[in-house]
Amino acid sequence: MVNSLEIAPSILGGDHAALGESVAAIGAAGLKWVHVDVMDGHFVPNLSFGPGVVKALKARFPDMFYDVHLMLDNPNLYVEPFAKAGADLISVHVEPDYPISGTLDDIHFAGRKIGITLNPQTPVGEVAEYLPRVDLVLVMSVQPGFGGQSFNPVALEKISALARMREEMKLSFRIEVDGGITAGNVAACIGRGADTIVAGTEFFKNSAALLGAARGAARNL
Ligand code: DX5
Ligand code: ZN
Repeated sequence: MVNSLEIAPSILGGDHAALGESVAAIGAAGLKWVHVDVMDGHFVPNLSFGPGVVKALKARFPDMFYDVHLMLDNPNLYVEPFAKAGADLISVHVEPDYPISGTLDDIHFAGRKIGITLNPQTPVGEVAEYLPRVDLVLVMSVQPGFGGQSFNPVALEKISALARMREEMKLSFRIEVDGGITAGNVAACIGRGADTIVAGTEFFKNSAALLGAARGAARNL
């Protein structure tokens, strides 16, 4: 495996009345990554968390790694607020119309890890030019906006394609997959090259099975 296996539970699937308890549960499972889904009600038909939530969680759980997934039409406007709030990695979608290249620079100069994200219907060619500049590519296996959806297998071929591109270009970006991940499909993602696994519903419902299946698949590579 090019990178260490990381499981990144999404607090969108946690207890919105007690997010601190959800992050504590992530730590209790021996995990570091916290996936924070940020939604603006425009790019996706839902609203979720702001920089204040990241700031509060980082203050209480400073050792966790905050993987912030911006599902915004104008993510360029929110890099600084989330970086200041304590985001460790900020991923931005390739679909909306905003200065993508300049936004990746903004994340870099804010001293954060850079992620680029593509929706199920977006071909991997749309992110090819950015691959040398990013730390992570986030492959959506659901249409963004909600947890609890079913996994779209179109993500599998995209993971394989990105793994091939990573090898050919001698790069080491992480391949993250996000949406509808379960103990039943996580091995297929890892087997094709995914090394960073987002799970909301499955983690908070069935973490032992998910972690067992993911770690077993990584060992068998
Ligand atoms: C969807 C989010 C995902 C979602 C994952 O827009 O980007 O991170 O919260 O939740 P599950 O694992 O339940 O699909
Ligand atoms: Zn997400």
